[in-house]
Amino acid sequence: MCGITGYIGYRDAYPIIIQGLKRLEYRGYDSAGVVLYDGQNIQLSKTKGKVSDLENKVTSEISGDGKIGFGHTRWATHGVPNHVNSHPHLSQSKNLVIVHNGIIENYDTIKEELVKRGYTFHSDTDTEVLINLIEEIKDQEKCKLGKAVQLALKQVIGAYAILVFDKTKPDELVIARLGSPIAIGIGKDNAEFFIASDATPFIEYTKNAIYLEDGELGIVKINREIKIRKINDDTLVEDFTIQQLQLSLEQIEKGGYEHFMLKEIYEQPEAVIDTYRGRLLANKGIIKMGGLDDHIERFTNANRIIIVACGTSWHAGLVAEYLFEDIARIPVEVEYGSEFRYRNPIITEKDVVIAISQSGETADTLAAVKMAKSKGAFVFGICNVVGSSIAREVHAGAYTHAGPEIGVASTKAFTTQITILSLLSLKLGKIKGNISSPNYQAYIHELTQIPKKVEKLLNKDTHIKQIASLYQDVPNFLYLGRGYNFPVALEGALKLKEISYIHAEGYPAAEMKHGPIALIDENMPVVVIATRKGHYEKVVSNIQEIKSRHGQIIAVVTEGDTTVRDLADHIIEVPETVEALSPLLTTIPLQLLAYHIAVMRNCNVDQPRNLAKSVTVE
Ligand code: G6P
Repeated sequence: MCGITGYIGYRDAYPIIIQGLKRLEYRGYDSAGVVLYDGQNIQLSKTKGKVSDLENKVTSEISGDGKIGFGHTRWATHGVPNHVNSHPHLSQSKNLVIVHNGIIENYDTIKEELVKRGYTFHSDTDTEVLINLIEEIKDQEKCKLGKAVQLALKQVIGAYAILVFDKTKPDELVIARLGSPIAIGIGKDNAEFFIASDATPFIEYTKNAIYLEDGELGIVKINREIKIRKINDDTLVEDFTIQQLQLSLEQIEKGGYEHFMLKEIYEQPEAVIDTYRGRLLANKGIIKMGGLDDHIERFTNANRIIIVACGTSWHAGLVAEYLFEDIARIPVEVEYGSEFRYRNPIITEKDVVIAISQSGETADTLAAVKMAKSKGAFVFGICNVVGSSIAREVHAGAYTHAGPEIGVASTKAFTTQITILSLLSLKLGKIKGNISSPNYQAYIHELTQIPKKVEKLLNKDTHIKQIASLYQDVPNFLYLGRGYNFPVALEGALKLKEISYIHAEGYPAAEMKHGPIALIDENMPVVVIATRKGHYEKVVSNIQEIKSRHGQIIAVVTEGDTTVRDLADHIIEVPETVEALSPLLTTIPLQLLAYHIAVMRNCNVDQPRNLAKSVTVE
């Protein structure tokens, strides 16, 4: 959560920082702040609200001059979102200033000690405690900022990515990381450095970046020097890797769409192709997965697969449960990262754990990965963000290659995760001899047809928008699906509640009679996924049950369906495909429905209240 970005070099820092904060706003947007050093003074401006609110405020508060500075966009953990709790935070002497992403768990005991030593605190944050601890150590030890930060962090329990500046030595920035990501962009000839929670803020300036590892502290200086040390024992890291970024500016801009979410929904045909490109050799009937091929026995000999994930990625995991059990005949359990990590699960070396995460930074999923590794399981990651923490922590993995997903509500990440999981289950099913050759070929063929079919579905946008206009004011929605489309019902409901704030519940269609049916009356819209393959007759019976209680039915059906057409109030047709791949199609109209309803309700689609794209705290 929280986005950090900073600059040190020969350019004006302010425009770079503000632009960077806008790109990082997906990480949190309840308050924002910026600090600059103008050659003599620290200039600081911050506010509750979004980066645009900060921009409006800055001009009346500070000059905006300076070639060194940093900014922060916040998702509140300690202390409500207000002016004083916003970052950056100054130390008591006002010489040191910090921005922080993460949580310092033992901040209250440190604070007590500092209060005894005469420190006073203005905010409720753990961050203000940390900057005063650094100041106290710097004064006591009479050391430089880097050393003081290192000693302070040795006392700290928790997670952090921090950026610190010292007015008494104004030629350097100190950066440190444990559990929260931070990257250093390196300008030509080391003449400037960019620091950010991910590489998007500096992509137009440099393609060279270092991702700090957990437990590392970096110092970047105006004299073109960069040093990285281990926090624990102060050893110098000499062999750090400078990565070549693949990201382009175009990929992180809206490209003419009103919202990132809409752009990302429309990118799905291409994103699915990018996911299977080079992996699916359809003509030869071969599925190649670099990250898997060296470890295939771990999968084929596995007693079971345990999938860990959160949010939308967890829904992709539920689809995978059907895929792996159905096609590869491997038992599967799907777990929320947060539950798995704390419930002392029984894991053996014969287990394979698959972690699914768009960002690769979700704290609970990352912790689950570490725990599974420590218990001997083989851990495979499915991430979108290249070089992310989970991608680096796992034994092997596969990137979804969906391109940056900026809208907080996940869309193309979901469909590309399912694409990878489909490839994986087909490959394993083939090797284990659990799928017949004709079926295998048929699935492969169908997978190659998915992008065109998604394209066709996107052409139904106007029809879906009309349906949305009829339901934009309802307080509740119910989503039902069975089999492979049960997780899609959960995902459809999640999309709606995330961005429109309408209460929505997803349910397995047959479970409706064990509770939700009591909610159904003429005011309750029910979205039912009723595609022809997969328990069709049973879902039709469920639709009749809703109809006889006067519920409003929006049905997602297979093209040409007539039975449900007669029962439903509205139908959205999806092209025919095999049942196992149907989530890749049925999801699309539900994304569009949620999107249009949210826009009609004047909600902030890309930055829904209280949410963040990347949840790096537990
Ligand atoms: C947050 C986001 C969701 C996302 C979930 C898991 O809640 O708002 O869109 O599905 O985190 O994120 P991950 O990056 O691990 O897939």
